[in-house]
Amino acid sequence: MRSYTIIAPAKINLYLEIISDRPDGYHELAMILQSIALADEINLRSISSEKIQLNCNHPQVPTNESNLAYKAAALMARQFPEALTKYGGVEITINKHIPVAAGLAGGSTNAAAVLMGIDLLWGLGLTKSELEELGATLGSDVPFCVAGGTVIATGRGDQLSSLTGLDNIYIVLAKYRSLEVSTAWAYKTYRQEFSSSYLRETENLSARAAAVHSREIVKAILNKNSIEIAKKLHNDLERVVLPAYPQVLKLRELFATQEGVLGTMMSGSGPAVFALLESKQQAEAVKLKMRDAIPDEDLELFVSRTITHGIQVRSST
Ligand code: C5P
Repeated sequence: MRSYTIIAPAKINLYLEIISDRPDGYHELAMILQSIALADEINLRSISSEKIQLNCNHPQVPTNESNLAYKAAALMARQFPEALTKYGGVEITINKHIPVAAGLAGGSTNAAAVLMGIDLLWGLGLTKSELEELGATLGSDVPFCVAGGTVIATGRGDQLSSLTGLDNIYIVLAKYRSLEVSTAWAYKTYRQEFSSSYLRETENLSARAAAVHSREIVKAILNKNSIEIAKKLHNDLERVVLPAYPQVLKLRELFATQEGVLGTMMSGSGPAVFALLESKQQAEAVKLKMRDAIPDEDLELFVSRTITHGIQVRSST
């Protein structure tokens, strides 16, 4: 029986602007998504029964149909029933390193890895854009997790346009283990509180979102200028999450006072907060300072860095 191990990187949002609400209940977004080295490992192997079996080393992660990785496998089984009959089902084992429910796309990147792994196991030969299209039916961030690197994402977050990849900008990530923020809650609350600021003066809202290409942060990314990138970090969802979760605000404020920190921001709908730094040494020093300031064991701290790829096969047998 064949098996593949896929590396599934997390993401951070360098930019998240909410342009408008949409008739389908989602929001029209202008985002810049960035892959980081912090990653889960997903092993997939064929099994003789036509079943999906999911295992995960993390106690908080469900291993039933509610897991996005399971949904990805079920989607492949529905789309390619002949391959399921021919090659059998799949056992998926997730080795979690990415904090869960953090705004780091942990679930989405696992789902992207499952799409890729099953494509390989069943020899389907799907292209990246076909995997992205399948991924979009599972969740807004899944297509990005297939593509990876540094990407402008518009629409629901599923319309992608790649930028020159940023590598080796160092990051410290902070996340309280027991703190979770519902993405649906964050967007709903934003809509309730700030919909009056939505851009409605043009009917072509998607064109307004696409204008993210001319934002200053994109120029800074194209110039690989990490100081300017850090100055232009932006996340509209901070307007609802920071007031509701003072611990997250505190992390943000503490990061901002640390030596060497170029900029700090909450990722996605949170509650993970990241800081950008020039070097690994500075990042390790900031991690230690944060630990000293908040000795609480519930706080997870990671040093990572930006990378230029998404999901990747590590090994096959
Ligand atoms: O697409 P995904 O399932 O990851 O989205 C989770 C929730 O986040 C959605 O149910 C929706 O409430 C909200 N969302 C949104 N607009 C987007 C993406 C997500 O309102 N563009």
